[in-house]
Amino acid sequence: MAIQWFPGHMNVTKKAIIDRIKDTDVVIEMLDARLPGSSSNPLLSQLTGHRARLKILNKQDLADPNRTDAWLAWYNAQPSTRALALDAGEKAPAQRLIQACRALAPNRGGMDKPLRVLICGIPNVGKSTLMNTLVGRKAAKTGDEAGVTRIEQRINLADDFYLFDTPGMLWPKIIVEKGGYHLAASGAVGRNAYDDEEVALELIESLKRSYAHLLADRYRLDDVDAIPTRHDELLLEDIGRKRGAMMSGGRVNMAKAAEIIINDFRSAALGRITLETPEEFAAWLARAKVLEAERRALKAERDGPRKGKQTRKDW
Ligand code: G4P
Repeated sequence: MAIQWFPGHMNVTKKAIIDRIKDTDVVIEMLDARLPGSSSNPLLSQLTGHRARLKILNKQDLADPNRTDAWLAWYNAQPSTRALALDAGEKAPAQRLIQACRALAPNRGGMDKPLRVLICGIPNVGKSTLMNTLVGRKAAKTGDEAGVTRIEQRINLADDFYLFDTPGMLWPKIIVEKGGYHLAASGAVGRNAYDDEEVALELIESLKRSYAHLLADRYRLDDVDAIPTRHDELLLEDIGRKRGAMMSGGRVNMAKAAEIIINDFRSAALGRITLETPEEFAAWLARAKVLEAERRALKAERDGPRKGKQTRKDW
């Protein structure tokens, strides 16, 4: 079963973005550096069109630094796009953020043409933390960021630099099945939308290929070289056994084992991990789009000519 996610307030957010976008020069999309592809909402590009974009890979302290570099290079190679990595521990991210946005919109600036930036991100990506850090700078003594003030949904990071928060939430649109599991593992989708054990097995499937040594270290698993080819369920069982997640009769409590590995991933107790590379995610996305197109074509065939127009809502 794939992740079942029933988004709540997408239309409110969609309308808010559409209303704001005409007066926006740069769109910031906050992503989770552990799953940049999966934590990106593909519908955002449809809503923001040709606007310049800044991708913030947040929670870099939890992510694999080599893969973060690969993602930054991937995004920086795209037209009208820049990327930077941040974490909640960074005390003064405003200057880096301002510089990146100014580079994206060099024709804006000065009091009569302030740079207008809209920030978006799916739940739990760290948007509130970043906004609070930016606002908190007002109290700081250093002159790192001049005049940081919060006006309703707007933060003035400089006299001619306005950062608008998206009202409501941009919910993830899960079109890549694997991405759904990554989102669940990260804690970005509601607890009722997934089954711990399934998510843990998918997490193991991703981890055993690139981070077998971290699994071996954390759970004292034997024969690290064999881990990539071991069955996911047997690995989960082994992890449960090593961590004492047992039931009567000497059976492993798989639900408890699943909880252990998910929590260890979320807290980075396993180590700094990024679940997907740009190339991997691009391949999953391409495949998902083909499947989606096939699904739509089949549906259109089934519905026949009486339903010529598209009926499925994107949000
Ligand atoms: P949101 O507004 O996008 O929904 O996210 P929010 O800022 O509330 O952050 C979600 C969780 O992610 C919070 O943890 C927050 O502390 C954590 N977080 C945000 N940015 C970073 C980061 O760069 N690195 C790390 N390691 N964590 C980050 P929480 O456990 O839900 O709450 P809290 O008890 O830590 O406040």
